[in-house]
Amino acid sequence: MSNKEKTLSIIKPDAVERNLSEKIKSIFSKNNLSILDTKKIHISKDEAAEFYKVHQSKPFYDQLCSYLSSGPIEVIILEGDNAVLKNRELMGATDPKVAKEGTIRKLYGISIDKNSVHGSDSVANAKVEINFFFKH
Ligand code: CMP
Repeated sequence: MSNKEKTLSIIKPDAVERNLSEKIKSIFSKNNLSILDTKKIHISKDEAAEFYKVHQSKPFYDQLCSYLSSGPIEVIILEGDNAVLKNRELMGATDPKVAKEGTIRKLYGISIDKNSVHGSDSVANAKVEINFFFKH
C-alpha cells in the first residue's frame, strides 16, 4: 500500500556555495522523491532561530542559527512514498563522519554543522516546516 507524504529539505549554505544543489536534487529525483516546489532564499538569523526553535536549549543553537543564515539556502518540498523516512535515509547521519557510504552527508558534508542538508524528522514537523517557508 502506498503512503504518499511530503517533507521539507534544505540545501544548506555549504552545499549551495559549492554548487551542489543540482546534484543533490538529482539524488532525490532518482529515488522517487518529486520536487513539488523549490526556492533559493537567504534568511535572517531571527528567521533561522524561529525555524530551529526546537533546538533552543542545545549548546549549539546560536552557532546553528548563525550558520543557516550565513548564505543562500535552497528550500524544497519533496513528495513521495514514505518521503520523510526516505529523505532521512538519503541524507544519512547528522555527522558526515559517521554517515553511511553513498548518503548525501557522506558524499558532500564537511562537518556536523556544515552537513549540507536538513530534512524534516516526522510528518507532523514536515507540515510545520513546509508552512514556515511556503504557503502550501
Ligand atoms: P539538522 O538536521 O539541520 O538539524 C539541526 C542541526 O544542528 C543538525 O542538522 C546539525 O547540522 C547541527 N548540529 C550542530 N551540532 C550538533 C550536535 N552536536 N548534534 C546534533 N546536531 C548538531
